[in-house]
Amino acid sequence: MIRDSAREFAERTLKPNAATWDREERFPTEAIQEAAENGFLGLTVPEQYGGAGLGSLHAVILLEEVNRWCAGTGVTLSVHNSLICGPIAKYGSDDQKQRWLPQLAAGERIGAYCLTEPQAGSDAASIRTRADRVDGGWRLTGTKSWITTGPDAGLFVVYAVTDPEGKRGNNIGCFLVPAEADGLTVGKKEQKLGIRASSTSEMIFEEVFVPDADVIGDSSQGFKIALETLDAGRIGIAAQAVGIHRACLEDSVLYANQREQFGKSIGRFQAVAWKLADMATELEASRLLVHQAAALRDAGQPCTKAAAMAKLHASKACNLAAQDAVQIHGGAGYTKEFQVERYYRDARITEIYEGATDIQRLVISRHLLG
Ligand code: CAA
Repeated sequence: MIRDSAREFAERTLKPNAATWDREERFPTEAIQEAAENGFLGLTVPEQYGGAGLGSLHAVILLEEVNRWCAGTGVTLSVHNSLICGPIAKYGSDDQKQRWLPQLAAGERIGAYCLTEPQAGSDAASIRTRADRVDGGWRLTGTKSWITTGPDAGLFVVYAVTDPEGKRGNNIGCFLVPAEADGLTVGKKEQKLGIRASSTSEMIFEEVFVPDADVIGDSSQGFKIALETLDAGRIGIAAQAVGIHRACLEDSVLYANQREQFGKSIGRFQAVAWKLADMATELEASRLLVHQAAALRDAGQPCTKAAAMAKLHASKACNLAAQDAVQIHGGAGYTKEFQVERYYRDARITEIYEGATDIQRLVISRHLLG
């Protein structure tokens, strides 16, 4: 049922508009609202807080369909569900859940996740944004970079150092900051290679007051919340890679059947046919890894390694598929006449955000080696 309703939404609303949004770098506000009306912004939010109360497996099925047509919309939904609703539902107080989850599920506020900083990307524990203790709460000061949905978000989950002298990774808090908070401004907006329907910017915090009621968990627990949350986020990005990969395959099959050279359709040449066979096989492998990681998470089992493997494999396979899709389309694939040009650009980010490819290898190898 989720797949059907997600596919219907994607084909009705994303398919006809995604190329325009990409060209004009337009954040699809109306499409995100429509997604909210379909329940896609509160998919994993418990029903008592206005969500659908479903799990990670449902989320990845939804994300494959959305990313099949628009990866910009796909990342917006993935971050909102996994990195914003997820930690509030899992680690938030009853009061935080009651105040924030219904607004997030209804799409009244879209969420953004603020971990990365100019000097702290892969080495996320080295963030410098400060949380200074004040009467009744904290004041946040610092700059966050490459924040997905930054300019269009209504609620920010922000990670900041609460104890500069504390042990690395155990000195960070997790804070909820609404967009209207005094001292919070949108910094430089990024112009990106791909996922251009998603907005990305710096977020600048100048002594932003956060009451104690909006600290998630213990003020030293934030880094673990950030990493555990990223397990879910990585499964979401792996599902995004599966969606883009499927787009590459479907468009390439269509083109290989239509385009004729040397008196027959190019799909009849093994050079093209074998590319399609590999693309289809890798797609199935990626999808199974993604579903396995999601199922482990839903079962409450450790899923850090499985999530990293799913993202590592799916993002690499998706990039190879995008490269082959452009190759199969030849000169046509290098122009905006065909969508594979956009898929090729969109695919690239899946190997970069929510932990670059080598970070996934680092996570997997630490599990192997101890
Ligand atoms: N769940 C819970 N706890 C975890 C965990 C997990 N998945 N992974 C590690 N931890 C715990 C560790 O056990 C450790 O706890 P102790 O101190 O009690 O021993 C603590 O967290 C610190 O872990 P590490 O020692 O492993 O930390 P590290 O500094 O060596 O870094 C890392 C680990 C994996 C490299 C991490 O920094 C990382 O994932 N880096 C990549 C950052 C990233 O993915 N950024 C994404 C930005 S957000 C984004 O892109 C979203 C978007 O907008 C699309």
